[in-house]
Amino acid sequence: MAKARIPEQIVEEIRARNDIVPVVEQYVRLEKRSGANFFGLCPFHREDTPSFSVSPGKQIYYCFGCHKGGNVIGFIMEIEKTSYPEALRILAERVGIEIPIADDEQTRQRSELLANLSAIMLEAARYFYTVLQSEAGAEARSYLTRRGIRESTRRKFGLGCASKEWDGLYRHMQGKGFRDTELLLKSGLFRKGRNEGLYDLFRGRLMFPIFDALGRVVAFGGRVLDDSQPKYINSPETPLYTKGRHLYALNLAKTSRAGHLVIVEGYMDVISMHQAGVDCAVAALGTALTPNQALLARKYTENVVIGFDADAAGQNAALRSLDILAARGIKVTVLMVPDGKDPDDFIRLHGPERFQALVDQALPLMDFKLLVARRNNMQGDDLNILDFQNEACAILAAEENIVVRELYAAKVAEVLRTTTESVVAEVERRRHKTAAEPQHDLLRERLLAMEQSKLAAEDANSNSISDEEVNLLTLLANYPELLAELVPPPQPEHFTAGVGSRLAEAALSQIRAGTLTPAGLMDLATDMEVKGTPLQDILARAAMGLSIPDTRSDRLEAAIEIWTKHRFKHLKQIKDSINLKIQQESDPEALSALKQRLLKLTTELNKRG
Ligand code: UTP
Ligand code: MN
Repeated sequence: MAKARIPEQIVEEIRARNDIVPVVEQYVRLEKRSGANFFGLCPFHREDTPSFSVSPGKQIYYCFGCHKGGNVIGFIMEIEKTSYPEALRILAERVGIEIPIADDEQTRQRSELLANLSAIMLEAARYFYTVLQSEAGAEARSYLTRRGIRESTRRKFGLGCASKEWDGLYRHMQGKGFRDTELLLKSGLFRKGRNEGLYDLFRGRLMFPIFDALGRVVAFGGRVLDDSQPKYINSPETPLYTKGRHLYALNLAKTSRAGHLVIVEGYMDVISMHQAGVDCAVAALGTALTPNQALLARKYTENVVIGFDADAAGQNAALRSLDILAARGIKVTVLMVPDGKDPDDFIRLHGPERFQALVDQALPLMDFKLLVARRNNMQGDDLNILDFQNEACAILAAEENIVVRELYAAKVAEVLRTTTESVVAEVERRRHKTAAEPQHDLLRERLLAMEQSKLAAEDANSNSISDEEVNLLTLLANYPELLAELVPPPQPEHFTAGVGSRLAEAALSQIRAGTLTPAGLMDLATDMEVKGTPLQDILARAAMGLSIPDTRSDRLEAAIEIWTKHRFKHLKQIKDSINLKIQQESDPEALSALKQRLLKLTTELNKRG
């Protein structure tokens, strides 16, 4: 699908109408503490004293603790983990600005379809919710009460009820003006009967709306109220919903301050856990975690606790999920619920405190794998030592970190009643055996890594920007009229090649046109990075930290001072690089050209003293 560019004036209007203070306040409690700025607890790292600041004047935020910063659009991108266009959409919707959709017919139709389906899902969720409060929802209500789900929890998760009628939802939708049969079928909420009429997919069930991370209803799960089968039915895939791409309750869990996500199996587990105060719980919904879900989790955290059912199926699902998560750089621990219970059972039986203790005692990956290996090799009350050692050594041999291997070798040795050395020897023997085969690959990987580090080094050189450059552009974004006073007039090529000159090029033309603001400068830096740090963060720090003089003449003096200092440093850098080239050049003609340039530069530099 071709990405439609959002016109510049609309971006400007979106930013202008979304004051950063109320937008941030949707997520962070702010207090006016010092001068013109607001302060609060940073939503991007854990802290007890507020170092997160918002400047209403400059329309930017900056955290003095974790150094994240930017404008209102950058804030939404960071907190909702969205792309730039998606952040613009969220902010546009917030203030009722319409973003014109691309004129390409296919894109337009697709957006329209998604918007219509979204409206249908929301209306269905509203309908199920009302049914739950009505006469028809009495049985479902008492079912929830029996399971200990409080009224406030029902509301938080938008729980509802599908009545026993064949077409309750269908008739409701008709009444609300949704009459397009094709469209209704695409929502996945209906089926086509023999006489071509539609009937409801979900009947006589407790309804769980599935929200995406931004809180939009994309699907439903429905549970029977007794022991009949199937226990749950779920929405089929639709243009809005792809299985294995969502995590149930992520819309709630993403604002948890726990610092990790706990991934469990079922709807009821998540709901019970949130009710018990574990507000970082999400569910994979059904099977083992998918790579897509792992990537989704990774957007929000580096730490995941997996809590799958204690039965064999649950443990194997956990094992598969572990590897999927670990492969994406997530640190995983495993929550073991004892006695074959699921989290919901356990909480109802033993209460929230004991459950929290289980979360706190979650086992590191390796312990869990060895524990499963032990369980797999029990014969009655006895451990089958031979089979266990085989499995355990294979698990250890797959571990890349030698310290971790040796640490666990000691534990395995204890179980086997043998020496750590003999376990280590066996593990290393297995590693060499498997390492010997893919020799070529190893060599190739090493070469590739060398190549990449060379590229990274080159990248780092060309991808920098100096403090003076950042400060100058920040000052000019606040007071564009200073630009005309600087000699020589700043040009993009006066800035460090790469990020520096790219930012300068965009910024200088807007400063000349008189349209740049501090928040606008952040926009220009979207997607730019300096050695892994987003340029927006660097600019936000400068904007918050730079003390700009009150009078015009002092400001001018400050600008000239920064500019002079920068020019001097920049010319010196060029001189050094020319010197380097001269030493390496053998062609006489090229050499003489370089020397000419060097001479000119030296004169220029001497003029400045
Ligand atoms: P469980 O069978 O463990 O159910 O399935 P549960 O979550 O503990 O539900 P309760 O406590 O009996 O109400 C775990 C998850 O697997 C999916 C659902 O997402 C469920 O929450 N599932 C299970 C289905 O999709 N269909 C089924 O028939 C059963
Ligand atoms: Mn359960």
